[in-house]
Amino acid sequence: MVKPIVAPSILASDFANLECGCHKVLNAGADWLHIDVMDGHFVPNISLGQPIVASLRKAVPRVGDTSSTKPKAFFDCHMMVESPEKWVEDFVKCGADQFTFHYEATKDPLALVKLIKSYNIRAACAIKPGTPVDVLYELGPHLDMALVMTVEPGFGGQKFMLDMMPKVEALRNKFPQLDIQVDGGLGRDTISHAAKAGANVIVAGTSVFTAEDTTEMISHLKSEVAD
Ligand code: DX5
Ligand code: ZN
Repeated sequence: MVKPIVAPSILASDFANLECGCHKVLNAGADWLHIDVMDGHFVPNISLGQPIVASLRKAVPRVGDTSSTKPKAFFDCHMMVESPEKWVEDFVKCGADQFTFHYEATKDPLALVKLIKSYNIRAACAIKPGTPVDVLYELGPHLDMALVMTVEPGFGGQKFMLDMMPKVEALRNKFPQLDIQVDGGLGRDTISHAAKAGANVIVAGTSVFTAEDTTEMISHLKSEVAD
């Protein structure tokens, strides 16, 4: 069985208080931090880059780092960028634990997976809502995670696309052990659809960062996946 993982998207945090926001969600039970990198080309928005990730790595050490008492986290970097192969080394250096590239952004996805893994971090591939799921069938056995976007990438706070669930179901049927992530519009009203379809890695920005009770929201998302 795959493990339920909740990955709050820091795009929904207050960037002026990023360390504080990250510690808050980690202390509330978050498993990973989802870091949305946007270049203004692949998506019509710009978010953050290496200097922020490197600073954040100092504030939030790697899991297993025993030299610090700060909350630790796995850095899940969602690269909404053109030519993702150009950025692998930089993001490894600034602290990424996983590099998720978009299928639509690269000519040779398998070569990119191999490049990412050569740095001993996890490799994942994302598909936009308009991309058919079967493009991932050949790549699946080489991946640590597949990401099915449930909104058009580029912005937080959008409406969950229920019609993406057949893609998640198809992937889960083919790859029972693969981590399958959903990203966009996940919260109290939508989590059950994603969980039923077979997603086990839940990205949640707005719903987690605006929750009145962060711990309750994260444990609710996680329990839906575990059921
Ligand atoms: C969208 C990003 C998402 C986004 C999710 O392009 O990839 O990670 O921040 O935010 P919510 O949960 O608010 O839809
Ligand atoms: Zn994302």
